[in-house]
Amino acid sequence: MSDHGLASDRASQHAAPAHKPDRSVRGGVSSGPFRPPAPQPHAEPLNRLQLLIALRRNPLTIWRRAHFTEQHLAGPGLFGHGVFLADPAAIRHVLIDNVANYRKDDLQLRVLSPGLGDGLLTAEGEAWRRARRIVAPLFTPRRAATLAEAMKAPIDRHVGRLVRRRPGHGLDVSHLMTTLTFDVLAETLFSNVIDGGAEAFGQALTRYFETQGRIDPLDIFNAPAWLPRIGRIMAQPAIDFFERTVRDVVASRTALMARGETAPADLLSALIAARDPDNGGGLSDTEVGANIVTFIGAGHETTANVLTWALYLLAHAPDVREAVEAEADAAGDDVVAAALDGERLAMTRAVIEEAMRLYPPVATLTRSAIAADEAAGVPIPAGALVVIPPYVIHRHQLLWDQPALFRPERFLAPARAGIERCAYLPFGAGPRVCIGQQFALTEAIMVLASLTRRLRFAYAGSSPPEPVQRITLRPKGGMPMLVTRR
Ligand code: HEM
Repeated sequence: MSDHGLASDRASQHAAPAHKPDRSVRGGVSSGPFRPPAPQPHAEPLNRLQLLIALRRNPLTIWRRAHFTEQHLAGPGLFGHGVFLADPAAIRHVLIDNVANYRKDDLQLRVLSPGLGDGLLTAEGEAWRRARRIVAPLFTPRRAATLAEAMKAPIDRHVGRLVRRRPGHGLDVSHLMTTLTFDVLAETLFSNVIDGGAEAFGQALTRYFETQGRIDPLDIFNAPAWLPRIGRIMAQPAIDFFERTVRDVVASRTALMARGETAPADLLSALIAARDPDNGGGLSDTEVGANIVTFIGAGHETTANVLTWALYLLAHAPDVREAVEAEADAAGDDVVAAALDGERLAMTRAVIEEAMRLYPPVATLTRSAIAADEAAGVPIPAGALVVIPPYVIHRHQLLWDQPALFRPERFLAPARAGIERCAYLPFGAGPRVCIGQQFALTEAIMVLASLTRRLRFAYAGSSPPEPVQRITLRPKGGMPMLVTRR
């Protein structure tokens, strides 16, 4: 294929991508499966300037129709030679079978590293392998049950607060979910004990994501790290604040444990006590802190966005909403056990999985090829940027039936078993797969069941929400919804 994946010298004949209207919805009642909003792909490739502007404004708008129909595209682009992959066999080769030949690319590391330091997400090589070995036992299925218990109190607190508010109130569900998932992390990570207040910490984090989450043109052009980036300058006070706070939390917990006093059974204590199974070494205080910041950075907005989109989708699919409500009613207060059981909240889980298909919080995965390679017949030159975008793969014409429609039943048994491993990548795949996958799924299922058991949400915006990719895929300007008691 001669055409490349990301840019072209040919000027596009097309204006900025239009926003697809929600045609199938009349007065909140859908006629058939709901078609949620998505940017209209371009017919022609973007030229370099258009691509640069689109990447800065909303990277979801760079894709053109061919990306949703072709298995791979390749050629020179803004970032050197680019290879776009949508073929599950080629993706498997890069992420799993020949993973040693691919590293996280410099652009991704430059965008993520200033906030996430040397945590697991941005570490490479031996440093990553060692950290993953030490941290992996914290996220086993057995620990998921203990963590799920700890999630229940903050979830119940938020639901209780909503139930007590005046009936029919409107609110920004995106903001609400961000606070909720932050509280769940604060509880499970460090038992919600932060000097200076968890709320100020959460606000600093939100500011960081707002200012930091855009791709800076200086990063695209590989400008030296010492050249100041506007977004980073704006985010710096927030980054400094939460790094300082985490340092203090780690130091006081380490001191407590060194004195032999009983420490809370949370992830922070587990991180401090964790040892490398190969040589018995542990993490330094700085590494513990970097991983706490990474867990919050990687696990808070991502989960919040899945829940926000899930509530939006449910509001447009009354039949599905009723099925989810019935599951929540049956689970009652036993939501922890129900969430850990594969069957009892099957439709709730399917809605979460379908929300992640349509709006994957991590919309693009990228890797840099170390040596020349071939992935399921696709030549990959040394140094090429390999682009694997879950957003496109999840809506690909060759991989999904009616990809643009909200149809959560595709994630119910037996259909679920027919989904190819590398056609559905909300958590990535291979050795660098999301370590918090089970944590996030359990949390999202528990939150959705707890909310739908007591409340109903209706979309209250005057036009459909616009999906926008910052670091995560979120609705631009928030998600206004009307909340009523059931
Ligand atoms: C719905 C929620 C979440 C989504 C969609 C998500 C998605 C992802 C994806 C796609 C990756 C792989 C990135 C790549 O290969 O380039 C990843 C890695 C990671 N995630 Fe998540 N994540 C979520 C929740 C969480 C949570 C709750 C935590 C921690 C508590 C977490 C911690 C991490 C870490 C530490 C990594 C790096 C793993 C490594 O490189 O070894 N994530 N996540």
